[in-house]
Amino acid sequence: MKNINEIALALSNACGLPKEDVAALIEVPADTKNGDYAFPCFRLAKQFRKAPNIIAEEIASKLEKPDFISKVETVGAYINFYADKSIFVKEILEEILDKGGDYVLSNQGEGKTVVLDYSSPNIAKPFHIGHLRSTAIGNALYNIYTALGYKCVGINHLGDWGTQFGKLIVAYKMWGNKEAVEKDDIKELSRIYVKFHEEAEKDPSLNDEARSWLVKMQEGDEEALSLWKWFCDISMLEFNRIYKRLGVTFDSYAGESFYNDKMQAVVEEIREKGLLTESKGAQIVDLEPYNMPPCLILRSDGGTLYPTRDISAAIYRKETYDFEKCIYITALDQNLHFAQWFKVIELMGYDWSDKLVHVPFGLVSLGDGKLSTRKGHVVLMEDILNSSVEKTRSIIENKNPDLENKDQVAEQVGIGAIIFDDLYNSRIKNVVFDLEKMLSFEGETGPYAQYTYARACSIIRKQDVSIDKNADFNLVTDEASVNVCRKLKEFPEKFKEAAQKNEPYLVTRHIIAICQAFNKFYTENNISSSDEATKKARLALVYCVKEAIKKGLNVIGLQAPEQM
Ligand code: ARG
Repeated sequence: MKNINEIALALSNACGLPKEDVAALIEVPADTKNGDYAFPCFRLAKQFRKAPNIIAEEIASKLEKPDFISKVETVGAYINFYADKSIFVKEILEEILDKGGDYVLSNQGEGKTVVLDYSSPNIAKPFHIGHLRSTAIGNALYNIYTALGYKCVGINHLGDWGTQFGKLIVAYKMWGNKEAVEKDDIKELSRIYVKFHEEAEKDPSLNDEARSWLVKMQEGDEEALSLWKWFCDISMLEFNRIYKRLGVTFDSYAGESFYNDKMQAVVEEIREKGLLTESKGAQIVDLEPYNMPPCLILRSDGGTLYPTRDISAAIYRKETYDFEKCIYITALDQNLHFAQWFKVIELMGYDWSDKLVHVPFGLVSLGDGKLSTRKGHVVLMEDILNSSVEKTRSIIENKNPDLENKDQVAEQVGIGAIIFDDLYNSRIKNVVFDLEKMLSFEGETGPYAQYTYARACSIIRKQDVSIDKNADFNLVTDEASVNVCRKLKEFPEKFKEAAQKNEPYLVTRHIIAICQAFNKFYTENNISSSDEATKKARLALVYCVKEAIKKGLNVIGLQAPEQM
């Protein structure tokens, strides 16, 4: 940015146009053969009433080039700027030598709060792959916003209230027992829950019974509530095991039940604002003028619904956190739900309705089907994590049998691979869950990035050279080295772009770009047999790469083991 500003200033002095307008036209060519920055003159033709190539010549002849530019060249309508490589390399490497991986941080979000609602699984139902996506994306965004200086509030909006509990209580009373639930927690709860659905097909009166238990819960019946509480605790055991392995934490676990005592007032407010209408006994907000089906607020029996809880939660969050943005990370199939209740918030007259952001993601399909058949139709997240870790363990056993703490590394790599894969593409793309592919040490994978990091660590470990700014950075101005520096330099921008678009893949992909540039550098530049001065400069570069990769991996939610 600083560089573009300086070039814009020089151009503006030479051609008389405002600096901001000039800056907006400056390009960063993909191929650096055409310079590091380019200024196309096509748009100036009208104003100057001359052919663009003549304008380019004229501006270039008057231009006073900034110090960090070594050469200015006109090619047709373009003015190309070549950065002085040694200045460029020195600047970025010195910055990283000073700050380490924290060079990616910025303060753009200072004083602003971002609320992120992610993971949010439903109690008593298994944590499935969709929740994993929400968890991984949410956690990465949390870290990205934090890196940009925002205060983040991570909320796990647990699905801990609603019709499933009435069913579960019936199921538990009919086919469950305490020991089995305590032993197998979520597996047992989902077993009886599935059984309820099978049995209710044959005997619909079970549904009535379930409904009456839900009513009891709502009325504060002691037995109903203590069972409900127990089911919640049991589910949390499983969820917490998973979060621990994923390295994910939350600032709040205020789930749907948290809003039980807050909804009445909100429903009243919606009514007072004249938005509530009756439809087949239920209370709704008509959204026909906005081409959407109505938003359901109260069921005919007076019970609240998913949107009622979300509306109440948004109002509560605005009051509690005064957010700049409140982000909801869920599967694409909830698009309508969010569009509907965001509209209700707007109709209620809240001017912050545009600060609510739904961040949807595509579906996950289980490619090889192996994972899906093993446990019937329920794919348990823990089984998936386990099988990835097991596979990784055997790869390590093959590649590096002498590695210390193999189990720990297998966990870090096996779990990291899944998170990385999840964050490698634009969210909205459907992903095929393919363990084989995500665990490959070559290709664009978590293990590849972690392996590159470990390699950088090992290069540094092997040399007895102090790493500091007293290196001669002229010695790392070959194309491969400069290219690594370019990637390092671009990294902080990727965080900003990722936050702006709520797309962690922009960071993930750039980690790979750094790794690839580094691996090319490493093939082309020998380190151990180079002279002392060159070795020192190259090691400084290796160190900076190592810091950048580690920071990147940590931000998207992966560990960076130093050996693997
Ligand atoms: N519990 C929901 C589910 O599993 C996701 C909740 C998302 N967050 C929200 N505030 N609606 O599908």
